Formats: sequence, structure tokens, C-alpha cells
Amino acid sequence: MTSTPGSPQVSPNDPCPFLRALVAHGLLADDVVSVGEVTKTIVNVASAGDGQPQLPSSAIRAIALVANGLSPLQVVRNGLGGLRLSELRNGPLDKKGAGSRVLDASARIDTAELARLDDFASDKTDADGHVERGLDLAELRRMMDANFERAAERRRGVDRWLMNGEWPILLKVMGKLGKLGRYLSTTEVRDLFVERRLPERMSRRLTGG
Ligand code: HEM
Repeated sequence: MTSTPGSPQVSPNDPCPFLRALVAHGLLADDVVSVGEVTKTIVNVASAGDGQPQLPSSAIRAIALVANGLSPLQVVRNGLGGLRLSELRNGPLDKKGAGSRVLDASARIDTAELARLDDFASDKTDADGHVERGLDLAELRRMMDANFERAAERRRGVDRWLMNGEWPILLKVMGKLGKLGRYLSTTEVRDLFVERRLPERMSRRLTGG
């Protein structure tokens, strides 16, 4: 697994590519973060995306509260003690192979699954006229449907619904505004998963550069 030299380690039990990048960038602790802090950080990072995307803090807070367990006791524990990022694996949001499978159960990159993303992508032209491979919302939906479909023996009904809070939100946050609309650059998706790196333009805005 590749990682940026000197960047913080990320627990293999954190399966979220976006949270993994925030940890690697030093924006979130790898183990426990208060629900308020994780919400504020995600909203702030999102606003560094193209067009200053606004994520609803109430929805993020709700996800952070249930992410380690759905029982009232577990929800109270997250509310008082914080979200445990290094214990998301096997929690209620873990789709156990019903997602893209780019990260395996030990958070190692599956290169064949990473390459498969391109099956759903097409050529996109960015604002500067540069052509690259990318995924728009319709293409992401096709990929999510295919991911759900191929996991027929192990998926839960809720998994397809959970996906709507993953790839489309990533599109909103990390998407580039191309000539024909918003898309996720497959190169930037690769950097997020493999290098745990946010797009350069976002890090620049975050550090005020
Ligand atoms: C408190 C907030 C969040 C929590 C607790 C969380 C948790 C998770 C978990 C447990 C998974 C693994 C699901 C699986 O098994 O496939 C996941 C996947 C994912 N999350 Fe997050 N996440 C959060 C916020 C976000 C945000 C804000 C974004 C986008 C900007 C995002 C984007 C994704 C994506 C793209 C996947 C990958 C799905 C796949 O590989 O198919 N997450 N998240």
C-alpha cells in the first residue's frame, strides 16, 4: 500500500476513503473524534471543493452517531465519547463487499477493482479544456447499481441506500466542474483511495494558499 511519506497512519478498520484521507492529511485523529469535531471538519473540507459545496451538518452528525452501532447505548456512547474511526469496520455502515471493493477487508487496494472504475467512466473535458477520464452522476449510479447487483448473496436492502451517501457526496465535494457538468476525475479518485490525498486545489484552499 502506498502512502504519503510522513503522513499519519490510518487504521485498516476505517473503510471510508474520504475519512482515511482526512486522517492522512492530519485533519482528523485516527482513533476517536468527537461528533462535533468530525462534523465541523467534514463541512469545512467540503466547502473547499469547487463551487464551495455545502454539506448538511445534521446529516453528518446523525451518521457519526450511529456509525459504531445502532443500539441506544452505542449511540449515546458516540454522542458522549465520540466517533471511533478505527472501529467502523463491521459496524452498521460496513457493506462488507457490497461497495466498490477497491479497499479490501484489510484496507489494502485491490488494483483490479480500482481499474474497474474506468468501465463506468467516460472522457470528460475540464474547465481548462483538458480531457480526462471521469464519472458523472449517471455513471456513478450505474456503478452503484452494478456493485449492489454483484453482491446479491451478501447485500442488505439498506446497502443500496447507503451508497447514495457515499459516491454522490464524493461527487459533490471532490467533483470538478467540466464543460458538460460535474464529474469525479478517476485520477483523483485513485489518489484518494491509494495515496489518501485530497485534490491539490482543495488542500490549497484549506491551507489558505
Ligand atoms: C461521519 C461521516 C462518515 C462515516 C462514519 C463514513 C463511513 C463509511 C464507511 C463505514 C464506509 C464503508 C462502506 C462499505 O463497506 O462500502 C464508507 C465508504 C465510503 N464513504 Fe464514507 N463515511 C462518512 C463520510 C463520508 C463523506 C463525507 C464522503 C464523501 C465526501 C464519504 C464517501 C465515501 C465513499 C466514496 C465510500 C466508498 C464506497 C465504496 O467503496 O463503494 N464518506 N464510509
